[in-house]
Amino acid sequence: MLAPMTSPKTDAELLAALEEVAEENYDRHVGAAQDWESHDFVPWAEGRNFAFLGGEDWTAAQAGLTDVDRIAATVSVLIADNLPAYHRDLAFSLRKKGVWWKWIGRWTAEENRHAIVLRDFLMTTRAVDPVELERVRIEYMTEGYSAPSLHVVDMLVKYALDETAAGLRHRRAAELATEPRLAAIFSRIAQDDELQATFFRNLVSAALDIEPDLSMRAIADRVADFAVPVVELPGQGSSSTLLENAGIYTPEMQSEQVVKPLLQEWNVFERNDFGADGTAARDEIASSVS
Ligand SMILES: [Fe+2]
Repeated sequence: MLAPMTSPKTDAELLAALEEVAEENYDRHVGAAQDWESHDFVPWAEGRNFAFLGGEDWTAAQAGLTDVDRIAATVSVLIADNLPAYHRDLAFSLRKKGVWWKWIGRWTAEENRHAIVLRDFLMTTRAVDPVELERVRIEYMTEGYSAPSLHVVDMLVKYALDETAAGLRHRRAAELATEPRLAAIFSRIAQDDELQATFFRNLVSAALDIEPDLSMRAIADRVADFAVPVVELPGQGSSSTLLENAGIYTPEMQSEQVVKPLLQEWNVFERNDFGADGTAARDEIASSVS
């Protein structure tokens, strides 16, 4: 365990102090990640031209997915397509070169593959209205996402929560999917999310050892305001309600399968290496999850 400091480190100092653990986790991530190709998962033979190139434009009669599959895929592709916003947040907080930028680059490339495979699948199978999907994508990226700029540990906690939630959402979507090729895509994405979650989770554990009070405060704040990204789907409402009604992601699942396992992993309720600020933060966490 690393020795706690007497005064809080700055973000730059914390990034430097965490660098070795970040290197270890970057190497672990790359070593554990299985290469996969998005084009392997797309039924290209089912694709055909739209009217612009002499084919036929989309009509609702062409959409073959069930409501649950369509909602899961639409929400996932819109969140994944919003990648530049998340990249911007991460790059702003982890603004130190070396392993941090390497990690952000790797994470961004993996997330982009998720958007690519889902979009290609939806376009070749004509499962959703491509014009509407594009309209919502532009709208969501322009207006629908805002996040406060966060300090380093806050950002690590937020992304540990986000990726754990994304892994869970994709696992559940795979379980419920009636279209087996889409289920395979969700399963593959879930594996990536889970591995990414491990990186962020391990970095939070290391931050707790270096700066226990500050890290406990970050955990309390981020758990208190944690919510998965929400997309407004035209005529259908908020993605959080749609996912909840479909049984893909519910508040109870978030509490039991995202927040509580992470708190356990970080030994939040067993640690005794912090001061009054950390104790106050832990009390807040205890009352919010009980
Ligand atoms: Fe992810």
